[in-house]
Amino acid sequence: MSDGEELRSQLRALIGADSVLTADADTASFLVDQRRLYRGSALAVAVPHDVGQVACIVGWCNQQRIGVVPQGGNTGYCGGATPDESGRQLLLSLRRLNRIRSIDADNFSLTAEAGCVLANVQQAADAAERLFPLSLGSEGSCQIGGNLATNAGGLNVVRYGMARDQVLGIEAVLPDGQVFDGLKSLRKDNTGYDLKSLLVGSEGTLGVITAATLKLWPKMRSSATAILAIATPADAIRLLGVLKAQAGERLSSFELLPRIAIELTTRHVEGVIDPLTTVYPWYILCELTSAAVEPLSELLQQILADAAERSLLLDAALASSERVRAAFWRLRESVPEAQRRAGPSLKHDISVPVTSLPAFISEASLWVQTHVSDGVLVCYGHAGDGNLHFNVSCIDASRNEAFLAQEPQLRRAIHDLVAKFSGSISAEHGIGRLKRDELAHYASPVALGAMRAIKQALDPNGIMNPGKLL
Ligand code: FAD
Ligand code: MLT
Ligand code: ZN
Repeated sequence: MSDGEELRSQLRALIGADSVLTADADTASFLVDQRRLYRGSALAVAVPHDVGQVACIVGWCNQQRIGVVPQGGNTGYCGGATPDESGRQLLLSLRRLNRIRSIDADNFSLTAEAGCVLANVQQAADAAERLFPLSLGSEGSCQIGGNLATNAGGLNVVRYGMARDQVLGIEAVLPDGQVFDGLKSLRKDNTGYDLKSLLVGSEGTLGVITAATLKLWPKMRSSATAILAIATPADAIRLLGVLKAQAGERLSSFELLPRIAIELTTRHVEGVIDPLTTVYPWYILCELTSAAVEPLSELLQQILADAAERSLLLDAALASSERVRAAFWRLRESVPEAQRRAGPSLKHDISVPVTSLPAFISEASLWVQTHVSDGVLVCYGHAGDGNLHFNVSCIDASRNEAFLAQEPQLRRAIHDLVAKFSGSISAEHGIGRLKRDELAHYASPVALGAMRAIKQALDPNGIMNPGKLL
């Protein structure tokens, strides 16, 4: 029996043959990331049923010094959930840990297992007359464990914060196989280091998240949504100030889109239509929401009239029905898919202070225009949080290879500019394998040293997601 075969049979004996996948047809989809940047190989794919089995697997891997790669919905952008090419790592899928364990509507909290698909968590909250506000274009397939492991952001951060802000408690299996039972549902708990916060955003390098107790919010009963046409990113930031000052916490989304995003989505995604009849350089999708029944459309119209008086608005389309609102969101959420269909792209997920966004866009765009051939800039994103997806797409298929060869210089130039503006080279997608060397390049030696010390203390054998993040 080969070494690999012997290990696989030990694993079957440990958790049962039905939880260990080895046939190529069963494992293939787990071994490639959704952007098709990485294709790995694995000893096996483990599909445990519960936290006890996860603990058994991780404890065994620690003894055998086998790397463990946790995987949720496999929608991540940085190759964090793909094993390396050695065939010596174990892929650990959380997909069967998919129960909502409990909902406490009066405490505004819900406990979900890591493998729950985000949309199912949202629906469970909704059924209890509550809101779980985390919302991403991938919500139909990403899992809450993956959202927490990447500290996902998305479309409502301007009001509710990131995934980390939604967490009250965490259950996780640590690298030695012990279960950390931190499923508290407290708003206040100052008992030492905040281990749940450490696990959030650790991208599977410090342990396997198996469940979480999440914060719920009042269900929204009113909303007003609009697509606004503006002349410049500077106007977008002024408009953001007006909306925040006059709508306060009701402002729940503020997304920036360039004209090219409208063109790509209407061309490549069925059913997307341009909401305005005239062509404009930039657009904002903004949404106000409230748990009270209140006339938000009137409030939004007043604010927009004020913005127009200040010459911040060129045009506007207000959603007159739920159907139109859904169409506006479909347009926004289809941008990554439209870009993918249009051809390969070089992606940057950056943030700078919101006041620096216009200067960043102007300098970075100039660099792209001057130095990148065959590329079209598609710069969009969560402007309300200072987060841009500063992507460059190749739309001439015959030039794909030459275009992609420019990646190192482009990345360095964009990330240097980010550093100049005291920004972040990963606003919401994480580090994974893709940006590991970038993190080493840009993070301060003090921060890197502290991160390495934490990793060494919790995972001295380096079994958790080796080669990712650090
Ligand atoms: P995976 O891709 O499976 O894993 C991601 C990382 O988390 C890996 O390092 C993995 O090892 C680790 N991991 C997964 N589960 C666990 C666990 N239970 N315990 C420990 N580690 C674990 N991201 C945003 O932040 N904002 C967006 O707006 C956004 N929009 C997107 C739109 C589209 C169309 C797509 C395809 C992706 C988008 N993403 C966005 C990226 C992605 O959906 C998020 O990063 C998401 O949080 C990943 O969840 P997942 O379950 O797919 O994780
Ligand atoms: C988004 O906001 O649409 C995603 O985070 C970015 C992307 O999918 O490229
Ligand atoms: Zn995003």
